[in-house]
Amino acid sequence: MRAICPGSFDPVTRGHLDVIRRADRLFDEVVVAVGRNSSKNYLFTPEQRVEMLELACVGTSATVVILDGLLVDFCADNEIDVIVKGLRYASDFEYELQMAQMNHALTGIETAMLPTASQFSHISATMVRQIASLGGDVTAFVPPGITDLMDRFLAERDAG
Ligand code: PNS
Repeated sequence: MRAICPGSFDPVTRGHLDVIRRADRLFDEVVVAVGRNSSKNYLFTPEQRVEMLELACVGTSATVVILDGLLVDFCADNEIDVIVKGLRYASDFEYELQMAQMNHALTGIETAMLPTASQFSHISATMVRQIASLGGDVTAFVPPGITDLMDRFLAERDAG
């Protein structure tokens, strides 16, 4: 079966990577899709988020793409059978349940929800972004090598 792990990944966290690795073990193929959530303002461009994910996913068989348009359309066009989402706590479930039901209503695609490993449940990309933007150290919360990329991208943004 082909699975997709969609998300904003702004930036990728250790919690995201845990879910991607577990999906990689469960399914024949995994696509990680950098999507657009219209209610969010992003710190990193889609291309920068892809670069961070490609580094994080070294050692997995996952491929990383930018998702334009509807997730269900991408799944139909690319013969993807299942959407995989990680769940940290109850509020994640409420949000993800509604999205899963809407995606199912659109095309019948199924969503599989994986509980985040407990050691990562406090990590959110929103907090990582905030800490990094204010000069804090986020090394413990993102996969190895990601802080260097984040620093470079933030420096480029400040210089430009
Ligand atoms: O990490 P996030 O912000 O929770 O990811 C949300 C994302 C990008 C997976 C979601 O917004 C999405 O699927 N966007 C693509 C557009 C789409 O299909 N929207 C309808 C969702 S019901």
